[in-house]
Amino acid sequence: MTAPRPLIAGNWKMNGLELALDEARAVAAAVDARPPAARVALCPPATLVHRMAEALGGACVEVGGQDCRAEASGAFTGDIAAEMLADAGATLVILGHSERRAGYGESDALVAAKAQAALRAGLEPIVCVGETLAEREAGRTLSVVAGQVRGSLPAELAGKAFAVAYEPVWAIGTGLTPSLMQIEEVHVAIRGELTGMFGAYGAGVPILYGGSVKPSNAVEILAIPDVGGALVGGASLKAADFLGIVEAA
Ligand code: PGA
Repeated sequence: MTAPRPLIAGNWKMNGLELALDEARAVAAAVDARPPAARVALCPPATLVHRMAEALGGACVEVGGQDCRAEASGAFTGDIAAEMLADAGATLVILGHSERRAGYGESDALVAAKAQAALRAGLEPIVCVGETLAEREAGRTLSVVAGQVRGSLPAELAGKAFAVAYEPVWAIGTGLTPSLMQIEEVHVAIRGELTGMFGAYGAGVPILYGGSVKPSNAVEILAIPDVGGALVGGASLKAADFLGIVEAA
């Protein structure tokens, strides 16, 4: 099986008003002018998904959501369904980000239900896993991450487009990153889980790294075997920084 193109996805989190679409347009212009080796996606806040999809219509930059509800519709004030994201022009959705797991108590089972909803809506889920600093210091990184992978990925993902993002919680937004060996160790463990769950198909599922990825460390991180792309937070807000990472892939 040929390896899929790496995926570089930007997670804008709760950042971005209309004006920020200029950054997305700048990313799209550069990507279209010089097609990179990687697939490129931006995941803006829900309010910008439709406008970004329209602004980038026809460009080689995909648009994603940052979360969705497991249910398709109903009395869930403030929530957004996977089908709504797809209807707004999204093709991907980030699920189980540590800020959702920690801030909203999202369990592996809930993340798995959201992944099923994403599949029903035709969205490609990017399912996030990662250990806290306390878990790493207790030597539990591999067991925690393996458990999250097993619990958060429903069997229905077999044969479908999806990615896993390894994001150590302590590396997100902190400027800290694991050593290259530590990243590789966890990615190898995730690969083992994926092939255990999905057989040969699991060997080709992209495993992204996320957590303080920036242009200055992207080349070495993306060169690690089994790192199939990056999920980028802060450095995705400015086109120049994000493009520096895209070009590193
Ligand atoms: P960061 O965030 O790049 O700002 O560390 C990554 C993420 O939370 O996806």
